[in-house]
Amino acid sequence: MSRLTRSPAWQKLVHHGEQMKSVHLSDLFTQHPERAQTYAQQVAGLHVDYSKQRITRDTLDLLQQLAADCGVLARRDAMFAGEKINTTEDRSVLHVALRNRSNHPILVDGENVMPEVNEVLGRMRQFTDSVHEGRWLGYSGERITDVVNIGIGGSDLGPRMVCDALASHGLPGLRVHFVANIAPSEIASLLKTLDPARTLFVVASKTFTTQETLTNAHTARRWFLDHAQNESAIEKHFVAVSTNHKAVAAFGINTDNMFGFWDWVGGRYSLWSAIGLPIALYIGMDGFERLLEGAHAMDEHFRQAPAEQNLPLILGLVDVWNSSFLGAETLAVLPYGTRLGRLPAYLQQASMESNGKSVDLDGQRVDYATGPVVWGGAGTNGQHAFYQLLHQGTRLIPTDFIASIRTHSPIGEQQAMLLANMLAQTRALMLGRGLDAVVAEMKAAGIDDETIARVSPHRVFLGNQPSSTILFPQMTPEAVGALIALYEHRIFVAGAIWHIDSYDQWGVELGKQMAGELLPAIGKAPVAGSFDPSTEALLSTIHKHWV
Ligand code: F6P
Repeated sequence: MSRLTRSPAWQKLVHHGEQMKSVHLSDLFTQHPERAQTYAQQVAGLHVDYSKQRITRDTLDLLQQLAADCGVLARRDAMFAGEKINTTEDRSVLHVALRNRSNHPILVDGENVMPEVNEVLGRMRQFTDSVHEGRWLGYSGERITDVVNIGIGGSDLGPRMVCDALASHGLPGLRVHFVANIAPSEIASLLKTLDPARTLFVVASKTFTTQETLTNAHTARRWFLDHAQNESAIEKHFVAVSTNHKAVAAFGINTDNMFGFWDWVGGRYSLWSAIGLPIALYIGMDGFERLLEGAHAMDEHFRQAPAEQNLPLILGLVDVWNSSFLGAETLAVLPYGTRLGRLPAYLQQASMESNGKSVDLDGQRVDYATGPVVWGGAGTNGQHAFYQLLHQGTRLIPTDFIASIRTHSPIGEQQAMLLANMLAQTRALMLGRGLDAVVAEMKAAGIDDETIARVSPHRVFLGNQPSSTILFPQMTPEAVGALIALYEHRIFVAGAIWHIDSYDQWGVELGKQMAGELLPAIGKAPVAGSFDPSTEALLSTIHKHWV
C-alpha cells in the first residue's frame, strides 16, 4: 500500500465511503434541510451549489483532514510563490502570474516575472488596437477582417472556447477562426472562404515544434504567397505566439511580431498568456483584461480563504471523494447553452492531461484512482442524446451543471426553458422516481394492470446521482475567467491529494514518436517485421487504397 492509502485520513474515508454508498441524497436533504445553504457559496461572481453531492459534514471534515495531511495549502503557497512544483520538468507553475492584476512581485529563480508579463500585455494591447483601428493593414492596404489561429491542444482549446463563450462581446468587423487538426479538410475548407489580403494568421505554439501546427502554418504560408507573390508581405499577415524565438525566426516570421511567454506556463493553462491573442483580437484588450480580472478574483479567493470556506479546495476534495472513494470513473460537464459548448473539450485537456497520471511524485505507481474521464456537452441537446445513461445506467456519474442566468440573446421563452430544463435534470438525477410513484402515475393515467406490471420497472429512476450547479448572472469576461480559474484550482487540489505532477504530460510523447516512425510507411507496402502484425495489416489496407 502507498503512504497515501495507508494514512489514517485515507483509511477513514474508505470506511466512510462504504457507508455513504448506500445513503440516498433525498434522505440527506430530509435530515438536513439547510444543506442548500450550507453547501453553497458565492465567489468571484459565481454561485456554486454542491449540496447535491453525496457528502455530509463528516465527509467534508475527513476530506479537509486529508488535505491538511497532504499539505495541499502549502503546495498551493509554493505554486503562488513560483517554486518549481512541476518537478519532472523542473519548472514553476505560474499561470496565476499572468492574471496577477494586483501586480505584486512573483519570483522565479529570484527574478520578478511581473515586468515581463506586463510588457507582453502592453504589446498585445498595442497590436490589437492597431488592428482594430485600421492602423495595421494587409500588404495591399486593406483592413484585416479575418484572424486565423493555427495551434492545437492548449494553443487552441482555450482561446476557441473563450471566443465562443464571449461571442456577444465580439467587436464588429473581425471574424476569428481556428485551425487545429492535421486532417486536411480543416485548413482546406477554411482557406476557401478567406481573402488573403485581409487575413491575419496567428501561429500559436509554445514549443513551435508541434507537427500539426507547423504543417498547417506552412500550408497557410504557401497559400498566402500564391496570392501575394511577395515574401516581404508575410510580416503583415503572420504573427507568432511562442516561447521559441529561434524556431519562429526559422519559420520566417519577423520576431518583432512574436508574442512570448515562458516555460512556467503549461500549454493547457496558457489562455491567459499571449496564447489569448485571438481572444484579445476578438473582444478587444479591455475585454481580455476583464477575463484576467475574473480569474484573478478566483485566485485571490483560493490563495486567502480559510480552508473550510475555500471553494476550489472544497470542490477539488469533492472530486477526489467521487473518484477515489465513491468509485466514479467520469465527470460529466454539462453547460446549459451553446456559448459554453466547448467547455467540456477544454476541461478534458485541462483535467485529463493534468491528472491522468498513474505514477506519483516519488516515482511510485499509485494504488488509487486518479483523474476521472471528463466528458460532456451542451444542454439541452445532451438530454436528447446521452442523459438516458445518467438517469438509468449502471454507473455513478457526477455531473457539473453550468449556466448564465440572463442571456445576451433575449428571444422568446428560450432562456427560461433552458434554465427550467437544467434545474429539472439536477432534481431528477438527485431524487429519481420509485416504483410506487411510477405505478400510481400509470394507474392515474388509466393504464391496465398487466401493462403496469410489465413496464413499470423500466420507468423507475434510482436517482442519487451527485451533481454541482454553477450559476452566474451573465456571460461576462469576468464570469468566464472566474469559472475557468475555479476548475484549474480544483484540478490542482485533486492532483496535490493524489501526489502526482499535474503539470507534465509525458503521456502524449509515445504516440507522437510512433507517428514519426509511421509517416514514411504510409502509402507503401509494409516491410514484414517492421511493425506489429495489426499495424502492418492496416498499412496494407491503406496502401491498397492510396493513390
Ligand atoms: O501534445 C500535447 C501538447 O504538448 C499539449 O500539452 C499542448 O497544449 C499542445 O501539445 C500544443 O503544444 P504547442 O503549444 O507546443 O504546439
